Amino acid sequence: MRTAMSTSAANPLFDSSASLVLRVKELEEQQAALGNSLICAFNQLLDLKDINTGVHSTRLAEWSLRVARKLNIAEEHLYQVEVAALLHDVGKIGVPDAILKKNGPLTAEERAIINRHPEYSWSILRLFTGLQEASLYALHHHENIDGTGYPAGLKGHDIPLVSRIVAVIDAYDAMVSNRCYRKGLPHGEAIRRLVQSSGTQFDPEVVQIFIPIAEQEASDVFAAAGTSRSAAL
Ligand SMILES: [Fe+2]
Repeated sequence: MRTAMSTSAANPLFDSSASLVLRVKELEEQQAALGNSLICAFNQLLDLKDINTGVHSTRLAEWSLRVARKLNIAEEHLYQVEVAALLHDVGKIGVPDAILKKNGPLTAEERAIINRHPEYSWSILRLFTGLQEASLYALHHHENIDGTGYPAGLKGHDIPLVSRIVAVIDAYDAMVSNRCYRKGLPHGEAIRRLVQSSGTQFDPEVVQIFIPIAEQEASDVFAAAGTSRSAAL
């Protein structure tokens, strides 16, 4: 029986094709590493701009992945889910701080400017090689299940499932997190609001799947958000 070694020794073409395969693999790994570095860098940028809310963004990504797995999203899409969870708000970089961090009610014009951020996120993420899918999830993360959201006013299952997942997790995170202009809501109240808006703003199935995950990790949430759970409950 011929071994790989004897095949290689007998056929110089084998050597060159094997090294070519290795080189392609090496380049693919380099490209993936570069992609991951860029994603981390953009995430860091959101931290520096104080755009990420109280819960560490890696936790948001972890929650999204857990919900996605429970909804049987195929393994090959999970990377895009993770990126969408991390960077869906990257477009807020394009919104002036004076509006983004305004301490008080927004004018209609200011609200319209903030509401452009999903489109900005899409326009940034679509430039990353291989993140077109995640860019679409980011584009639709403020759609409402009843069609009253933005930017496209999509309804129900016309909204990508991952966008519906990000919407629920992002809303929960925003509600429980302390911001400079307001204190985070107690976990129980945030869950009550998610349930109350199920079927209008949020996908009821996603909410039901997320609740036990939020319950389980509530203590960590409040620790990260700087809120005492005993005080909050
Ligand atoms: Fe957003």
